[in-house]
Amino acid sequence: MKPRVFSAMQPTADSLQLGNYLGALVQWVRLQDTHDAIYSVVDLHALTVAPDPEVLRRRSRATAAQFLAAGVDPQRSIVFLQSHVAEHAQLAWLLSTFTGMGEAGRMTQFKDKSAKVGEAGTNVGLFTYPILMAADILLYDTDLVPVGEDQRQHLELSRDLAERLNTRLGEGSVVVPDAHIVESVAKIYDLQDPTKKMSKSAVSPKGTIEILQDPRQVAKNIKSAATDSDAVIAFDREAKAGVSNLLTIYSALDGRSVEQLVADYEGKMYGHLKVDLAEVVVSYLTPLRDSAMEWIESPARLDSVLEEGAAKARTIASATLARLYERVGLVAPTSRR
Ligand code: TYM
Repeated sequence: MKPRVFSAMQPTADSLQLGNYLGALVQWVRLQDTHDAIYSVVDLHALTVAPDPEVLRRRSRATAAQFLAAGVDPQRSIVFLQSHVAEHAQLAWLLSTFTGMGEAGRMTQFKDKSAKVGEAGTNVGLFTYPILMAADILLYDTDLVPVGEDQRQHLELSRDLAERLNTRLGEGSVVVPDAHIVESVAKIYDLQDPTKKMSKSAVSPKGTIEILQDPRQVAKNIKSAATDSDAVIAFDREAKAGVSNLLTIYSALDGRSVEQLVADYEGKMYGHLKVDLAEVVVSYLTPLRDSAMEWIESPARLDSVLEEGAAKARTIASATLARLYERVGLVAPTSRR
């Protein structure tokens, strides 16, 4: 038996951005070779931001399409929509009874997001979001969770809950998952404000590289990326955040190390770096975008992949949930005894 990998993305935008791709999706595709992989579009999580129903449906399919376009292979891996497997919400409830208020309240993403929208705009789902995320992971006896840096704290909570379940309900209740965070690409920064992470919900669209964006716009955004005034191409996360981010992206897509790139661009200007990088990014994203558009334009084919995935996911998830229901002391229906 291969070890299990599980990960997921929220359908909160029409397109994924390059941070989602480099920080997570590239690792998802690689891990298929060595792991039994399960990847989900977490549409229930996306409800925390009160999306328009039609927009949510469109984005859920578009997100799955981008997984497939990037190389997630439904012949080898399970790809599904979270809401198709009811066990996610069911386990989240059980886990919420194992989670302390203080513990959930310490989550920095909750604090940031709720501070942004204010108390009146903050729903309870936003607070319990990391518990649903732990349910996603623990349902599948997951060994490894490939994510970007921003999910580290949520992963810690998942691990704490797993250990608590094993202590309180007995060893073997759930598998304690490890985060898989590739440091060099764990945080891709906004092109306009390189102190902030690149995000699907960025304030300025110019700071983001979207997978499904018009390539001309991608090139424009790269060429207008914020840099600094000393005009030396070097890697320094603190003093030269903008250039360092461009070098990180360049290295991840082109294969040359950051050191090699710095050597190759010695004496050249930022403009050179940006023009070359724009070309690298555009030629990288073009086939990805074309393939994603093909999936988006064949919703019936896409839905059938997602339904097959959900059926397989359900088989695993229902066994885990039954095991935990039994261990916490719920009476099993006669059909399951
Ligand atoms: P989400 O949808 O915000 O992001 C999806 C993945 O992309 C990574 N990521 C980045 N990596 C590098 N640089 C960036 N700028 C960047 N922006 C995003 C994220 O770390 C993530 O890996 N809570 C999760 C979704 C989720 C999940 C799960 C993940 C729900 N259940 C279970 C793993 C396992 C989220 O909001 O990701």
